[in-house]
Amino acid sequence: MRTGTEAPTSQPAYDELVSRERQPITPPTIILRTPAPTDDLDAERACLSPDELHHANTLRDGETHRMFVARRALLRTELAARLGGSPAEIVIDHRPCVQCGGSHGRPYPRAADLHFSVTSVRGPRPVVALALAERPVGFDLEEVAELDVVRDVATQLHLRERAAVTAALETSSRAACSVFTEIWTRKEALLKGTGEGITVPLDRDDVSDVRARPIPGWTVAMWETDRPDVVGAWALSD
Ligand SMILES: CC(C)(COP(=O)(O)OP(=O)(O)OC[C@H]1O[C@@H](n2cnc3c(N)ncnc32)[C@H](O)[C@@H]1OP(=O)(O)O)[C@@H](O)C(=O)NCCC(=O)NCCS
Ligand SMILES: [Zn+2]
Repeated sequence: MRTGTEAPTSQPAYDELVSRERQPITPPTIILRTPAPTDDLDAERACLSPDELHHANTLRDGETHRMFVARRALLRTELAARLGGSPAEIVIDHRPCVQCGGSHGRPYPRAADLHFSVTSVRGPRPVVALALAERPVGFDLEEVAELDVVRDVATQLHLRERAAVTAALETSSRAACSVFTEIWTRKEALLKGTGEGITVPLDRDDVSDVRARPIPGWTVAMWETDRPDVVGAWALSD
């Protein structure tokens, strides 16, 4: 996995998007961190707001707790470096939930014209990641799915997405798992960008073609990782 600030300007999908739209698209800034057993957890917790610490303490599963603290510490450290102040003082609000109107929709920093999206990969090689952009952004990293997940979830996807997975299956199971995961990662990035999350029918949007706009006003692109088992994608509003 690459580390530090990355801008995937050399990726083919992005280059194609730029020429098709005939205007430059500034990709989000992506920042990755690899949590390690030697991390200073007290220092990370000191970056969180009281509400976040309270929420973290309700997360009984150790890995879930650890990844939440790592995501929020990364987010707040990077926001504070850009906006000033201490990490714990940055105010993060949430857009209204598109489903119920409650205050748990897409998060954003109050009083700053900056947008972000965080994600993480669990397991023995964990990663936390942050995308920063001047426009609403969604970012997702996913481990390549197992075949039984592919078979189960692919049936719920858009017709053209299902066709892409089925076509890949004729090549190999491995190809099908890759194609499915790329589609899923693009879809999740898009739905994090719009703030809807996985509350809409999975067959509503077609992200099978990375060069096409799935929703007017949104561009989706793959973000290349250096791990064959992890797929990344971002979605950016016009
Ligand atoms: C957004 C979502 C797709 C992320 O899935 P995930 O498996 O948690 O994956 P990731 O690790 O990639 O992303 C986690 C981050 O997504 C962000 N996120 C949560 N809800 C979001 C939303 N509606 N829009 C954009 N981003 C959102 C958060 O920043 C979260 O990180 P945090 O826990 O540190 O705050 C999923 O949580 C979801 O669908 N949420 C919406 C659920 C919902 O609104 N239900 C209706 C309730 S009435
Ligand atoms: Zn809700």
